[in-house]
Amino acid sequence: MTKILVTGGAGFIGSNFIHYWLKHHPEDEILNLDALTYAGNLENLRSIQNNKRYKFIQGDINDPKIVEKTMQKGIEVVINFAAESHNDRAIVNPRLFFETNVLGTQTLLAASLKKKVKRFHHISTCEVFGDLTLDSAYAFKENDPFSPRTPYNASKASANHAVMAYYHTYGLPVTLSHCSNNYGPYQFPEKIIPLFTTNLLRDKTLPLFKSSQNKREWIHVDDHCQALEAILLKGKLGQAYNIGTGVEKSIEEIANFLLAYFHKPVSYKNYIPDRLGHDRRYLLDSTKIKETLNWQPKIGFETGLKQTIAWYQENSAWWAPLL
Ligand SMILES: NC(=O)c1ccc[n+]([C@@H]2O[C@H](COP(=O)([O-])OP(=O)(O)OC[C@H]3O[C@@H](n4cnc5c(N)ncnc54)[C@H](O)[C@@H]3O)[C@@H](O)[C@H]2O)c1
Repeated sequence: MTKILVTGGAGFIGSNFIHYWLKHHPEDEILNLDALTYAGNLENLRSIQNNKRYKFIQGDINDPKIVEKTMQKGIEVVINFAAESHNDRAIVNPRLFFETNVLGTQTLLAASLKKKVKRFHHISTCEVFGDLTLDSAYAFKENDPFSPRTPYNASKASANHAVMAYYHTYGLPVTLSHCSNNYGPYQFPEKIIPLFTTNLLRDKTLPLFKSSQNKREWIHVDDHCQALEAILLKGKLGQAYNIGTGVEKSIEEIANFLLAYFHKPVSYKNYIPDRLGHDRRYLLDSTKIKETLNWQPKIGFETGLKQTIAWYQENSAWWAPLL
């Protein structure tokens, strides 16, 4: 039995991960430490709230007292999902992003070192590497230099440096992963796929940044969870792993797919000024995790997107209160 601390487990990816892990690892226990910001939602975990192998603690990862107290509950493994995660919000309030994403991570690292955990896994993003031109043949590799261009990306890159510093300086047993853009159930309707879906379900138009040819690499959150499982079980300490599918779609393509799905005309596209520092494209080279840990994404983009749309269609009681 392993006692795992998941931080940010009331958010999109963290809650999917908790469901995944409890289902596939019936011997393990999970403690979920989450501050319940606007993005944290205990409804994501309602079906397991009485599960004896799961416990929720409300608290800030940047509060050393709460973090150390939580760690004393027999924690052996820490997986850090907690973060401010929305680029648009970071432009308005960058300080909060550095407090949570950088200092919060450092607070967890310090407490993990003190507790002598067996593993600290940090969830990072493809966005730390900066952006690619739309026609570039390049894909980012794990050890490429970071070149973040927005406050969110800079805060995530800084956290990565802190994680590796704790490995090299203090020998904390860390692993780290950079994932591409996730989609799936329980994603807050500020992110593009749930935003567009919930808008169309309410017969509203789609706000597209003017640079709508900008592309993202898409992964279903279940494939992300399986990749994390592979890293946690077989990953090498001190290593970073890219997690991507190679499937790129522009925002324009996502909008077109959803409009066709809901039988809406192109006049539902509403072009708005670009976000400041809007990155054009990120693409990960995920050869390392595929070849060394034998991971492969399983969910095709169109299948996963249709399943996700169906989930939002069936779960308006989940998203309507969040709008
Ligand atoms: N969503 C993506 O496409 C994507 C891609 C790559 C990496 N990531 C990373 O994955 C992680 C999870 O992303 P997500 O999309 O699930 O984010 P999310 O915004 O849905 O969830 C973040 C969670 O962290 C919690 N949180 C925020 N500040 C906290 C604090 N100070 N202390 C404790 N809890 C706090 C929130 O309450 C929320 O439950 C983040 O680290 C993000 O940077 C996300």
